Amino acid sequence: MINTELCEMLGIKHPIIQAGMGPFGTNKLCIATANAGVLGLISSSGVNSRDTMPEIYKYFIGTAGATLDDDKPAVLEKIFRQTFEGTREKRGIFGLNALVATEERGNAEVIIDAAIKAREDNPEMKERFRVMFTSAGDPMPWGEKIKGAGFKWIHVVPSVKGALRCQKAGVDVIVASGHEGGFHTAWEPVHSMVLLPAVVEALAGSGIPVVGAGGFCDGKTLAAALALGAAGVQMGTRFLATKESDFAPLWKDSVVKAKDRGTLVARGFVGPARWLRTEPSQRHAERTLQMSPGVYLGKPDDFATIPSELIIGELEGLNAVFDGDEDVALMAAGECAQRVTDLPSAEELVQRTVSEASEILTNLPQRLLA
Ligand SMILES: Cc1cc2nc3c(=O)[nH]c(=O)nc-3n(C[C@H](O)[C@H](O)[C@H](O)COP(=O)(O)O)c2cc1C
Repeated sequence: MINTELCEMLGIKHPIIQAGMGPFGTNKLCIATANAGVLGLISSSGVNSRDTMPEIYKYFIGTAGATLDDDKPAVLEKIFRQTFEGTREKRGIFGLNALVATEERGNAEVIIDAAIKAREDNPEMKERFRVMFTSAGDPMPWGEKIKGAGFKWIHVVPSVKGALRCQKAGVDVIVASGHEGGFHTAWEPVHSMVLLPAVVEALAGSGIPVVGAGGFCDGKTLAAALALGAAGVQMGTRFLATKESDFAPLWKDSVVKAKDRGTLVARGFVGPARWLRTEPSQRHAERTLQMSPGVYLGKPDDFATIPSELIIGELEGLNAVFDGDEDVALMAAGECAQRVTDLPSAEELVQRTVSEASEILTNLPQRLLA
């Protein structure tokens, strides 16, 4: 057993967070990871994909038993209830990932309000639906609503500057997300080996636990994060490739098959994104270089000037995953895909990650300090 301040604060058994991975659903995955003793996160942004990514939307609502007749609050309510019921026996702890980018403000309000209502309607839900995890935006406007409702609040940042802003906003736990990570990356990215200790140092004495994200996928990397001063890790790509994960079979298998240098960065919706290296993603990277070069220069493009064919190509690429069309499919994943070689259950994955990390941490002093 490894016990950290993250475990104490959230009431989880192991210092691991299963990442939110919207707009794709993580409804079933969240139940499996929460039952395995880590923090499970529901991804919410799929609820806004009805018109733009109909395949993703249908899949997202389908795994929670919702239908096309349900409106957003009704879909979310079904997801929360399903997660609550699915984690009842093992008393799993879960949370919700909500994007709070400025342009998403209206959508974020609907999502967070639905979560607050679900908890208010059911005191037992409140006990285990403990966390609001916000990302992709400024935390400052959200503190009153989230903390006022009694959530533990986690926010993800790509920089020390972002971490200090979280401290000011009253965030309870900060996730430092390095450039290795899957899907959206920062405009001016820093890798985990530099970012994580820098954020830990910047927050020293604050009492705010820091969690590493980007590249963490096993006991070795968990032990390394703890050695760098983290209170735990968040894993996205690794949990994507598990038996219970809601991701399409083509996507999971492609992560498992990824080899050395198996990812690349190209445009993805709102900015740079890390994709599995495939023929479609290499074509997409070439188009990005021509039509949205800011992705590679660290300069946000003016969204209005990006040619629509680039954006349409991304939407088609994501929808194609669900049809199993490898010639068009675009699949996001982190660099650690090259270290993912199987599709375990969430429980198996958590157990082996924690025992490997414990063994490393136990043996290191003997190995090095004797
Ligand atoms: C397919 C995919 C979708 C993601 N979507 C989101 C998202 O909607 N919100 C978010 O905060 N992070 C998102 N992320 C980032 C993860 O939350 C996490 O920080 C990242 O996967 C960690 O790096 P790793 O992939 O090396 O584990 C996504 C990651 C992946 C792989």
